[in-house]
Amino acid sequence: MIRWSLLVFGCVLVFRHRVETAVGGTTCSLGGNECSGIANSFCDVPNLVCKCVDIATEDTGASTCPLTVCSSDPTLCTDANSECLSSTACACKTLYELSGGDNANACTAKGQVCDTTLTSPVCACDNGYTATAGACVANVVGGTCAASGYECSALSGGYCKTGTGCACSAIYDLSGTSCTAKRVGVTCTSSGGECQYILAGYCDTTTNANAPVCACAAIADIASQTCNFKACTADAFCTAIDPNSECIKGNCLCKSGYDINGSGTSNKCEQQSGSEAITASFVMVMACLVISFLQN
Ligand SMILES: *[C@@H]1O[C@H](CO)[C@@H](O)[C@H](O)[C@H]1NC(C)=O
Repeated sequence: MIRWSLLVFGCVLVFRHRVETAVGGTTCSLGGNECSGIANSFCDVPNLVCKCVDIATEDTGASTCPLTVCSSDPTLCTDANSECLSSTACACKTLYELSGGDNANACTAKGQVCDTTLTSPVCACDNGYTATAGACVANVVGGTCAASGYECSALSGGYCKTGTGCACSAIYDLSGTSCTAKRVGVTCTSSGGECQYILAGYCDTTTNANAPVCACAAIADIASQTCNFKACTADAFCTAIDPNSECIKGNCLCKSGYDINGSGTSNKCEQQSGSEAITASFVMVMACLVISFLQN
């Protein structure tokens, strides 16, 4: 009980603190990241206080830095790398961003870092980006890469495929020059794990043995290339479909200790392997300990 009161008291203190401190009243230090809690602010290094970026205007009442409204006058977006987005509020142009770093009052090129490996440090493109027409552009599928480099690190779902360049990993599909997570209906293999990130999905190797595809477990229905657990009102509805399932809060789910193996080829709830069950019980025990500790 005492702990709960302390927690509430602490929250109130923090809340009061936030409300009463103007943006410029928050002190910061070099590399200290103290201004990260105030969106669109940066650490003004000579003065060591947080300040709104050039394209934001401080709301002194709320101590926030909302992006400057430019509906009446687009020239209010004074930052050369900003624009009046949708004739509404200032924003950084595509390929530029507010980095939140020290003295970072303006929009800087995305993926840009300071290359300090040189005697005279210069701005360079970060891992995963390539300098293109004065800006740093994220590398896409097909981009040149080296096995030990980080050239594909800005490509979500991608990796460096030796001899080919940046490519999509097994659980992603090529979509234009980027990678999208695999969905129901895409090709899979019995041990490739291609369907593992589809909730209630598995690799169906039986419907068409020559062309396996990711599909939904028996207790789930396909809905726009994802799987939704079937709605139910009684256990019998679920167990008729899969004996190791039950009706929990209106949906058929695998009963405790069982799950759909997204990397497997079975459409039924299967007993979790030993290590997983132990991890699950360990997590439960820890959760109970934390709760009882808080309640005492
Ligand atoms: C899931 O299926 C894959 C492929 O058959 C298998 O290697 C893995 O051990 C299975 N995982 C569990 C938890 O049973």
